[in-house]
Amino acid sequence: MWNERYSKAGYLFGTEPALFLRKHKAYLTAGAKVLAVADGEGRNSTYMAEQGLDVVAMDGSYIAIEKARALAMSRKVTVDFHEADIAAWDWTENQFDMVVAIFIQFVGPAQRNDIFAGIKRTLKPGGLVMVHGYTPEQVELGTGGPRNVENMYTDETLSQAFADFGLLELRSYHQEIDEGEGHSGQSALIDLIARKPG
Ligand SMILES: C[S@@+](CC[C@H](N)C(=O)[O-])C[C@H]1O[C@@H](n2cnc3c(N)ncnc32)[C@H](O)[C@@H]1O
Repeated sequence: MWNERYSKAGYLFGTEPALFLRKHKAYLTAGAKVLAVADGEGRNSTYMAEQGLDVVAMDGSYIAIEKARALAMSRKVTVDFHEADIAAWDWTENQFDMVVAIFIQFVGPAQRNDIFAGIKRTLKPGGLVMVHGYTPEQVELGTGGPRNVENMYTDETLSQAFADFGLLELRSYHQEIDEGEGHSGQSALIDLIARKPG
């Protein structure tokens, strides 16, 4: 499904980073090792590499990865791209200073719990997680994302998932975004930034 969506010319979500990432640029510390989860066509991983981070990016779509490589090359930065199914991703313990998960709502609650557990495991003590996605109100707005409410995040979903982390930001809001034809228009969004203890 994703290879088909990405097979059209151009970048489905644009080549500029998510507004969320730009707004929280202060958290992007040069030299930090970051994992970009389901990074798609590389707009976010490339931006983080431009800020001097050491970026590993994974996605399940080989077409997305090809486009991501081209984007990184055009910006003259290096990203370590991996084509992988998230269900088979190796969430080795204490590997990353940061994990960034932007619009990865292609799974329901059960698999989401596994992914969040993996993110928590692979972060080093003191590492940062940055999650950005849609709330249930997005299903009505229909300006991007899946149509199933159970895949959406609420404040409760995220605060419970990262209850053992130090919460830095948790905010649900409506905002107009313009992130390619995939995510465009008035949107019901949620941000979480939290730090692993230690
Ligand atoms: C809405 S897009 C977001 C892409 C990127 N994070 C961004 O913000 O531009 C969701 C991404 O999840 C990827 N994806 C879907 N199912 C996946 C899976 N099982 N394993 C890895 N990636 C997957 C898709 O290929 C797609 O790139």
